[in-house]
Amino acid sequence: MIGTGYVGLVSGVCFSDFGHEVICVDKMPEKIAKLERGEVPIYEPGLEVVLARNVAAGRLHFTTDLAAAVDGADAVFIAVGTPTRRGDGHADLTYVMAAAEDIAQALTGYTVVVTKSTVPVGTNRKVAETILAANPQAEFDVASNPEFLREGAAIDDFMKPDRVVIGVEGDRARAVMGGIYRPLYLRDFPIVYTDLESAEMIKYAANAFLATKISFINEIAALCERVGADVKSVARGMGLDGRIGQKFLHAGPGYGGSCFPKDTSALTRIGQEHGVPQRIVEAVITVNDATKRRMVDKVIDLCGGTLSGKTIAVLGATFKPETDDMRDAPSLTVVPALIGGGAQVRVVDPQGLKEGEALLPGVDWVDDPYVASTGADALVILTEWNEFRALDLKRLSASMAQPVMADLRNIYNAETALNAGFKAYEGVGR
Ligand SMILES: NC(=O)c1ccc[n+]([C@@H]2O[C@H](COP(=O)([O-])OP(=O)(O)OC[C@H]3O[C@@H](n4cnc5c(N)ncnc54)[C@H](O)[C@@H]3O)[C@@H](O)[C@H]2O)c1
Repeated sequence: MIGTGYVGLVSGVCFSDFGHEVICVDKMPEKIAKLERGEVPIYEPGLEVVLARNVAAGRLHFTTDLAAAVDGADAVFIAVGTPTRRGDGHADLTYVMAAAEDIAQALTGYTVVVTKSTVPVGTNRKVAETILAANPQAEFDVASNPEFLREGAAIDDFMKPDRVVIGVEGDRARAVMGGIYRPLYLRDFPIVYTDLESAEMIKYAANAFLATKISFINEIAALCERVGADVKSVARGMGLDGRIGQKFLHAGPGYGGSCFPKDTSALTRIGQEHGVPQRIVEAVITVNDATKRRMVDKVIDLCGGTLSGKTIAVLGATFKPETDDMRDAPSLTVVPALIGGGAQVRVVDPQGLKEGEALLPGVDWVDDPYVASTGADALVILTEWNEFRALDLKRLSASMAQPVMADLRNIYNAETALNAGFKAYEGVGR
């Protein structure tokens, strides 16, 4: 498994839990050193336990030595990052191609080189060309195996997936991939075998569709505010229709995270490159940007039109609960805008500090929501961590200089907040 980030580490750990022999490789020595000590470099609930179990069973190993790990492997998974390329919105394939070259030099015997990273259509064929150019003798096939796990629920998602997608050509590679996923096949989890291009496309289409649902409900939410409707009721009434479904219809501060922003951007670039603009996805991105900005306006309005000299307590910085991932989190738009407007911002997040400290300069990090709120002019809920769901609102409002709340995840409601002493409550779409 090349890359021990959120996807590579979880995949490697879970494959070893299936009973396979797994070697996880990363080029960052400090990550590997931590893993060798039994420490998990990311916050992912449950991961440490499964990792320890498989290290103890002798099936799971960590190294920085890619060649040694690839030597003799039946399959090598590329699970390195594919961030947005600076400047143009395309997926940056530098890490994938560098890994492919390193793998090429190290291949011994027949190996399936599997791309698990999210990559544009055509990348698997480029990986094959790269390997062949670097090592014309190599005996290998490529396979596309995009990953659908969610941070915060990654182990469960990997062990009990809605489906596994395998893009593959040829029976030999298919047999290897079938063997790797056999424990899931035996438990009747659907495995979709398809061609390389379709597998690559499935991942982008799936993420773009989910992002579309979010932007859709966020735009409806803005309209609900104007016409006096409650987006929570609207979403429930819509989502109970089995053709629509309830998931990803929660109005909020816009989507963030390591996948939706970069994958929607990459898909629009792929569309433009092929002369087939993806207009819906382009609009989804525009709406998401506007949604994040709209959240800032809400806070300014709540603060009486100016942020200057105000103290604001922000609950939540990570892009969603149960992760320490700060990549493209809405907080990275909202918090700097508050500071830019002249506010002093205190942030509380159970896991956000490690990454967030460098990303949000000028912020006071506080451990406790009640401490953060003391003397504050506004309370802003940005991420719906469990510990923010049942706060003592009376205690909060009593300690604030101006008891007003922008609940950007709709976890409370106006009646409850006002009854608890808040002077104003602002949700999203209500
Ligand atoms: N994070 C998610 O929730 C998620 C879900 C589904 C798919 N994906 C996709 O999976 C891929 C990986 O995402 P991530 O969040 O795990 O990334 P990440 O940034 O957390 O991890 C990538 C890791 O790869 C390592 N790496 C890079 N080049 C390497 C090389 N040549 N050799 C060894 N190690 C190398 C890095 O040091 C890093 O530890 C991306 O394409 C992403 O789009 C992510």
